[in-house]
Order: sequence, then structure tokens, then C-alpha cells
Amino acid sequence: MYAGKARAYTNIALIKYWGKKDERLILPMNSSLSLTLDAFYTETSVSFDETLTEDVFFLDGKKQDLKQTAKISKFLDLIRQKQQLTLFAKVDSQNFVPTAAGLASSASGLAALAGACSEALNLQLTETELSRLARLGSGSACRSIFGGFAEWQKGDSDQTSFAHVIPSDKWEDDLAMLFVLVDDGIKDISSRDGMKRTVETSSFYPGWLENVETDLATAKQAITEKDFNKLGEVTEANGLRMHGTTLAAVPPFTYWSPESLNVMQLVRLARKEGLPCYFTMDAGPNVKILVEKKNLSALKEFLGKHFAEHQLIAAYAGPGIEMIPIERSEEL
Ligand code: ADP
Ligand code: DP6
Repeated sequence: MYAGKARAYTNIALIKYWGKKDERLILPMNSSLSLTLDAFYTETSVSFDETLTEDVFFLDGKKQDLKQTAKISKFLDLIRQKQQLTLFAKVDSQNFVPTAAGLASSASGLAALAGACSEALNLQLTETELSRLARLGSGSACRSIFGGFAEWQKGDSDQTSFAHVIPSDKWEDDLAMLFVLVDDGIKDISSRDGMKRTVETSSFYPGWLENVETDLATAKQAITEKDFNKLGEVTEANGLRMHGTTLAAVPPFTYWSPESLNVMQLVRLARKEGLPCYFTMDAGPNVKILVEKKNLSALKEFLGKHFAEHQLIAAYAGPGIEMIPIERSEEL
């Protein structure tokens, strides 16, 4: 038996990944940039075991159905193929983040799985190789290998598509992200299905591609200059453009709820009142607000008039993937 365990933190994209040019290899249409966060993470153990007759996947202690397990098996198959391994595996994962609610559980989940597999099989991967491996599970997962700001350079092949750290002189330690949870239920349309439908049918999609590389360059420049407003403005604009593409998909859809719009209006109001903060959203109705640490309590107070305390969760910049030593008693 080969066993390994890893912890990976979620990341939220400031410049979004939206669309694949190769679905099997998960090669993206555009490069993206994210901030890894400390508040939400996944811990995953994997054991490749000769006594198993199929892969089994437990998430938060519950055995997962065939569909969920098939996704994991597809990823394990890639590793088994590369390593010429025939053993089935037990995957036991704990999400310290709501699953499939637009809070990036797929990023932390698949990064942790890639890390655990690499540990179990003693693959001795570099961070770049681990990022490429995680990418094959879920695109955004390739950024969760790294702490702080990460850029996923789109590349044009399995070899050239991976994430790396963006040098920032630790500026991310001055920043925070406030999550406004308006709904933590499972969404109707996964990111995977949403981006596929958009690429294939949305007449707005070419407009997304026209702007995104410029947005990325602006964001990187803002990080170099430690210019919070520049980073916030481009983050907000880029997120809105991504969500704009879904409205022209066939059939059209949106991840926004009335409550999401309410939060966006409140963020604009906060800005008007002199509190610099900017929103972004992913494939779900929850809103994330980028704010400087020094203004976090003022923002919480401002939003506290509209939301319960448990709906407001603050996160700071988080670390890269961590391998966790396995205790013998934890093994299968
Ligand atoms: P989210 O916004 O949470 O990332 P997605 O729809 O993009 O939502 O991804 C959710 C999917 O990611 C889940 O349905 C599951 O397939 C996968 N996932 C989430 N957590 C884990 C985990 N801990 N281990 C493996 N896969 C996971
Ligand atoms: C909106 O990485 O979950 O959060 O590669 O199909 O697994 P797959 O998709 P996923 O998509 C994330 C989309 C996003 C934007 C982002 O994180 O960049």
C-alpha cells in the first residue's frame, strides 16, 4: 500500500480563468491570476491499496456516489497510467470550505488530491510539475500549489500550462478578502459546465478574450506598484465581464442572485463613502470583496447592518500546498 496526505488552500481569481481550449488536458483559453487564501482549505488522504477492487471516495466522511467517484477515478487513472500502476485507491477528503458553492472547493480539493497522490507514490515533483498535475484535475487547482499571488500561464500544451508565484514583496500580507455568504448550497451549473456552454454558444465570449490579457497585465502592474485601487478596479471589471458572457449563452444563465446584486451595490456605496473595496464573483452567488487589511473592520461594520455575522467571513493571504505526514493509524 502507498499512502499520502496533503492540505491545499483555496484561491480566488482576480483575473478569471473562463473557458478551455482543450477539455481533456484542461488547457485554458486565457491566463489567470489569483490570491491563495488562508480561511478555506481541503485535507485529503489517498491510499493505493492491493485489497481494493474499485476506487472509493469519501468527502466529509460520506461515501460519494458513482458520478463524483468517477471524476476522482479519471484523475487517478492519469496518474496510474503515468506510473504504470494498477492499484485502486481510497480517497478520504475533508473540505473546510462549502462544496460546489462558488467558493473554489474544486481548486483546494484537486490540489490536495494531486499533492496526496504525489506523496503516496513518492513522485518527488517540483512545484511546477505538481501545478501541472493539479491542473489535470481542475484548472483552478494549479494555482493552489502556491501561496499569495499566483499566475496560471495558459501555455499551449501539457508541458507549458502551469502556475507560478508572482513576486509581490509580500504585499498580499496587507490585503484581505471578505466573503459575503448569501447562499452556500450546491449550485445548479458547475464552473466546468458553465464555461463549456459559454465558450460554445455565447456571442459575448470573443469580447471576454479581447480584454482578458490586458486585464492580466494591469493586475500584474498593480501588484508591482502595490497600487490597491488599480488592482481592485481591474479585478471588479474582469469579474463583471466574465459574468457578462453567461447572459448571451444558449440557453442563457447567470450565477447572480438578487442578494449578489445587493452586495455589489453596497460595495459601490462603501466606495462612494470613502472606503476602498472591490468585489468579484465566481461560479456561484456568493460575493468576495477585496479590501486592505487596515479597512477590513470598517467594511465589516458597514456590511454588518445588512448581513448576519456568520455571513461575513474574512480571509487573508494563505500558504501554498502542505504535505502532511501520515500516522500509521490513519492508514487503511
Ligand atoms: P466550487 O465553486 O466549489 O469550486 P465547482 O462546481 O467548480 O464548485 O466544483 C465543485 C466540484 O469539485 C465538486 O462537485 C467535486 O467534483 C469537486 N470537489 C470539491 N471538493 C473536492 C474534494 N475535497 N476532493 C475532490 N473533489 C472535490
Ligand atoms: C469561475 O477550475 O472549477 O472560479 O477546470 O473545469 O475544473 P475546471 O473548472 P474550475 O473553474 C474555475 C472558474 C472560476 C474562475 C477561476 O477560478 O479562475
